[in-house]
Amino acid sequence: MAGKKIIITGVPGVGKTTVITQAMESLSEAGVPYQNINFGSFMFEVACAEGLAQDRDQMRRLDRTIQKRLQKLAAEKIAAIDGNVIIDTHASVKTPAGYLAGLPEWVLTALMPDTIVLVETDDDQILLRRLSDTSRVRDMEGAASIREHQQMNRSFAAAYAMLTGCTVAFVTNADHLLEHGVKALVTILK
Ligand code: AP5
Repeated sequence: MAGKKIIITGVPGVGKTTVITQAMESLSEAGVPYQNINFGSFMFEVACAEGLAQDRDQMRRLDRTIQKRLQKLAAEKIAAIDGNVIIDTHASVKTPAGYLAGLPEWVLTALMPDTIVLVETDDDQILLRRLSDTSRVRDMEGAASIREHQQMNRSFAAAYAMLTGCTVAFVTNADHLLEHGVKALVTILK
C-alpha cells in the first residue's frame, strides 16, 4: 500500500522527536496512523554492528565516506516500508569537515518525499535545551552557530524541493508552546 512519506528535520535539540511523538498520538486518535522511522537509528544499527560507533552522537564525526555509505543503506531499507511514514532525520549534519547533506540525491530519489518539514525555534532556546539534556553528547556551540545551521537547513530544503517536487513546511517548537508546534505538524500530516 502506497502512503505519504514526510521527512521531518531540525537541528539537534530543537525538539523534533518530542513534536513528532505527540503529533503521532493525536493522528492515531484521529484514525490517521503513521509509522515513525528514525533515520539515525537505521544508520546506527549498521555502524554499531561494524564497530564504527558506540553511540549515535559519534556518527557525525565518522569519515564522510563512511557516513554516506550508512546513509545509502538506511535509505534503501526505509524506501521499502509501506504506508504513511514519518522519517525523523536531518536536512544537514554538522561534521568536522563542514555541512554534510542529510538527503543527498541518492537518498532523496530512494525516498521521494511528499513534504519536508523543518522544525525550528530561536537559537538561544535550542542552546539551553542542549545544555539541559544530559542523556546525549550534544555539540556545544554558540547561538550564532546554531542560527547558521538553521539557515543552512532552509537552503538544503529548497534544493531538495527542486530535485523531487516536494513541498517544504515550517513548524515552530517554541518554549512553553509545544502544543502549537504539535498542532501545526498534525495539520501538515493529515
Ligand atoms: P537523531 O537521532 O536525529 O539525533 P538528534 O539530532 O540529536 O535529535 P534528537 O532526537 O536527539 O533531538 P531532537 O531535536 O529530536 O530533540 P528532542 O525531542 O530530544 O540523529 C542522530 C545522529 O544520526 C545524527 O547526529 C547523525 O549523525 C545521524 N543522522 C541522522 N540522519 C542523518 C542523515 N540523513 N544523514 C547523515 N547522518 C544522519 O528534545 C530535546 C530537548 O528539548 C528535550 O529535553 C525536550 O524535553 C526539550 N524540548 C522539546 N521541545 C520543547 C519545548 N517546546 N519547550 C521546552 N523544551 C522542549
